[in-house]
Amino acid sequence: MQLARHQHGKHPLDKGNPDCGDFQTLYTDLMTRTALRDHTVVLIGLMGAGKTTVGRRLAASMNRPFADADHEIECAAGRSVSEIFEDFGESAFRDGERRVIARLLDEPPMVLALGGGAFVDPETRALIGQKAISVWLQADVETLATRVARRDTRPLLREGNPTEILERLLETRQPAYAQADIHIDASAGTHQATADAILTALNARETQA
Ligand code: S3P
Repeated sequence: MQLARHQHGKHPLDKGNPDCGDFQTLYTDLMTRTALRDHTVVLIGLMGAGKTTVGRRLAASMNRPFADADHEIECAAGRSVSEIFEDFGESAFRDGERRVIARLLDEPPMVLALGGGAFVDPETRALIGQKAISVWLQADVETLATRVARRDTRPLLREGNPTEILERLLETRQPAYAQADIHIDASAGTHQATADAILTALNARETQA
């Protein structure tokens, strides 16, 4: 798993790629040449927003590594997120989450998907503000509820009606999420379309800078 993050390809123009003139390559090249290359792009938002899937696609488009914070926490703890909640409780999970994210933010620029609660932590949010560009994947609760119903891996959603829990979480977390640098509508469209929208927003931000 460690390997996968560092296995990303070289710069597209270094590969002797015969397609290097095509639009995608030029676009990727533009992105990697800009100052954005110095920043990790962090994806935040509620459970079901698509952070992991969109993040993988975004990382591929930007030709950089991808990491999923929950997955890294699971590796570090040798347990699933559910098991960490069961065995040690949520506050131990949050401590581990804070430490793992701090470590990942010190690695070379990547696309990093966070668990839904991570950006609510003031320390994590401040660190991301200093070291990364944050992107909030926004989606309505109905869409999120449909998506999270596909997997039973989220301990917080087992405590009651998932739609009601998501509504409550959105209400309490919105003020923190709203502090993200970029807000993207991730309700409709494919994950690839969302990744493309993020790329466009990052590029626009860079042009303005
Ligand atoms: C959580 C979201 C989960 C995971 C944990 C807690 C949250 O990640 O970190 O179950 O507090 O919203 P995803 O947002 O990737 O599902």
